Amino acid sequence: MKDHVFRIEQLKKEKNAVIMAHYYVADEVQAVADYIGDSYYLSEAAVNVHADTIVLCGVSFMGESAKILNPEKTVLLPDASADCPMAHMASVERIAEIRAQYPDVAVVCYVNSTAKLKAASDVCVTSANALKIVKALPNKYIYFIPDQNLARYIAGKLPDKHFIFNDGFCHVHNQITAAEIKAAKDAHPFARVLVHPECRPEVTSMADYVGSTSGIISHVEKCDASEFIIVTETGVFCELRKRCPDRKFYAVDGSQICPNMKKITLDKIIDVLEHQTASVELEQSLLASALSPMERMLQLSGTD
Ligand code: 13P
Ligand code: SF4
Repeated sequence: MKDHVFRIEQLKKEKNAVIMAHYYVADEVQAVADYIGDSYYLSEAAVNVHADTIVLCGVSFMGESAKILNPEKTVLLPDASADCPMAHMASVERIAEIRAQYPDVAVVCYVNSTAKLKAASDVCVTSANALKIVKALPNKYIYFIPDQNLARYIAGKLPDKHFIFNDGFCHVHNQITAAEIKAAKDAHPFARVLVHPECRPEVTSMADYVGSTSGIISHVEKCDASEFIIVTETGVFCELRKRCPDRKFYAVDGSQICPNMKKITLDKIIDVLEHQTASVELEQSLLASALSPMERMLQLSGTD
């Protein structure tokens, strides 16, 4: 492991590369990252980074987002097969149908989507800024893709908007049940329940706090409680324990693990840096059309 870390540091210098990692990757991968964060943080960081190469330790839509925002840089994915099933759970054809049916509609695309879906949308959002952005849109009709759970959570906060739902979901968050939350609460009666909005409505409704991965981390930092039931992917425990070593964190069950995020290993990071393989390549026209909804997200989430 020490040798791996040493080699990665060497390669970063040699290739003028930075490593970006999502909170859901394995702890040892987070340990070698220059930037660690949730999807919004990674998109923002990708815009400001000064390096020739970005190694994106996450799933392919994250690599695509970094490439869309930095078309001139090399973006490497340590495992090109690390893909998010939800990123494919919408279709360009259905977007066209909805646009024909509702001329005033805004197509809002969760960044957990392919570049093709982003390009067919009006604005991108992440779980950290979806509420703020949808609220700021002038449109009454919102077609929110691909995640139905995040869409329903946001819709519940914005009763004046008319949401058209899509049936996508994150299999990691969607499989967590209300009965499991109840059992965790019974086992830890003093713990606060912190839930990611990709969870089902009956689960978010049992939460003391609902927010993105970084929202959950900052909520813990600001809160006086000493115990927390964490209802998201357990990779986030690494940062929680680093920032708040005196608090206790409980998972709901053993299956809050994203198998695709866990495909990223130190060996694969070394391999991709040594051989510059698995770089994200997107057609020029796709890069150009996916950029404006991503830029619109960055612009709208920065405004107050
Ligand atoms: P955030 O990074 O927005 O919290 O989303 C979680 C997720 O599922 C990323 O794949
Ligand atoms: Fe996709 Fe869910 Fe894994 Fe995130 S946690 S990459 S949304 S499957």
